[in-house]
Amino acid sequence: MKYFYQQLFGFVSVVLLTIAACGILFYNVMSNNVYTQRSQQLQSYAKGLIATDMSDADIYKLGTILREENVSIAMFDENNAMTYPSSSLDTNSALTEDELNHLKNGAAINLKEVQMNFTGEAVDNLITVYYPIIKNGQYKGYVALASPMSRIQTEVRELRNSMFIAFGAAIIIGIMMSFVFANYQTRRINKLRKATHKISEGDFDVKLPVESRDEFDDLMKDFNNMARSLRESEKEVERQENVRRQFMMDVAHEMRTPLTTMNGLLDGLKYNMVPESRRGRSLELISSETQRLIRLVNENLDYEKIRSNQIVLVQHRFAGIGAIQTVVEQIRELAKVKNNILRYECDTDFSVYADYDRFVQILVNITKNANQFTDNGEILVKAWNEGKKAIVEISDTGIGIDEREIKEIWERFYKADVSRKSTKYGESGLGLAIVKSLVDSHHGKISVKSEVGKGTTFRVVFPGESEL
Ligand SMILES: Nc1ncnc2c1ncn2[C@@H]1O[C@H](COP(=O)(O)OP(=O)(O)OP(=O)(O)O)[C@@H](O)[C@H]1O
Ligand SMILES: [Mg+2]
Repeated sequence: MKYFYQQLFGFVSVVLLTIAACGILFYNVMSNNVYTQRSQQLQSYAKGLIATDMSDADIYKLGTILREENVSIAMFDENNAMTYPSSSLDTNSALTEDELNHLKNGAAINLKEVQMNFTGEAVDNLITVYYPIIKNGQYKGYVALASPMSRIQTEVRELRNSMFIAFGAAIIIGIMMSFVFANYQTRRINKLRKATHKISEGDFDVKLPVESRDEFDDLMKDFNNMARSLRESEKEVERQENVRRQFMMDVAHEMRTPLTTMNGLLDGLKYNMVPESRRGRSLELISSETQRLIRLVNENLDYEKIRSNQIVLVQHRFAGIGAIQTVVEQIRELAKVKNNILRYECDTDFSVYADYDRFVQILVNITKNANQFTDNGEILVKAWNEGKKAIVEISDTGIGIDEREIKEIWERFYKADVSRKSTKYGESGLGLAIVKSLVDSHHGKISVKSEVGKGTTFRVVFPGESEL
């Protein structure tokens, strides 16, 4: 059975039971009241009769008046013989021996729904009162008064009818109120049900109205809290998923260049294409690049670092010329393919305060870009110190970057020209975004100057340790 009907059924049963119980109780009390009032009235007539010690003529007159009120009166002597209205000796009352003794003891008798008159003749329902006459402590007979029940019954019937009307109205109002209340409760449950359904479908943007009145409102408050936590954890899951995806792409991006270089060098060695004089240098490069890759993987695969998007820098001061040479070596083969001249200018005492691997990573990315966007041109990697600062400039004579696009190149996945995508030029548009974040974590500065068709110059400044 639906909750609404259960509620309705519950409320209506309570209303009906209460009204029925009250109705029966009230009806009984009221009808008894009517009987009692009538018998008391008759008794007071009887008392009046006895007290005034009326003459027969007075009694006769009173009898006539009372008859008009539908009250019949009779009097009996101590021998149970009627003295009024007829005084024949053989007209005895229909009272039993017990009842007579009761009267003799001075107590009145009230009889309800009697089916015969004082002398035992069958009549319609009567209400009868017998009242003893005691004079100077002597039992002198009794007065009997009777009134037909029909009048009382009419009164009771009228009372019952008005009660029926009142209770009928109460039932209708009760049912209507039950309906409204059950409907109100059911509507709130349905709201909660719909919200739960939304959540089960993955829509956590639900908020139920809370008026803080009852337990339902408490439940709705808890429900809203639950939805908020779910929303937050969904966002956190999404954020982590983005971090993971970004990390995977960054790692792939960073590994591609050294692996390609190493692959080229290994092929050269395998087929004896590397001149004897450069073999040692090639092996050295393969070794140092392998080391660098191992460090990169070890560091980056730390789950916590990926999660919090942090990279830990191991900064120290080192001679930068070796790093510059490594960068140039890595790009050399690529430059040859594009017929570019790749040079570097660097003082032998050039030194940098940075994380070695990240320093190489930054320069490889920029130099690789320079080569990517230059054909038959020149690429120059220039490095020098200004006090403790280390400055590296990488310039090319390539296609350049449009002034309007310079601001955008640091964005992830940005490529100045979409047609370059997966062609001989760029790959994913990640390089400069990584470079920028690495320079930032060194508290360094990166800037670019470019002229379309003439070339581009990237300048990176690494601060000295005292400036941090
Ligand atoms: N030296 C340059 N000359 C001309 N345009 C450049 C140069 N360096 C960067 N750009 C422009 O900036 C964009 C972003 O460079 P970025 O290194 O971030 O991506 P990419 O080189 O296209 O791809 P990826 O580095 O991920 O392989 C490039 O697509 C290019 O349009
Ligand atoms: Mg790039």
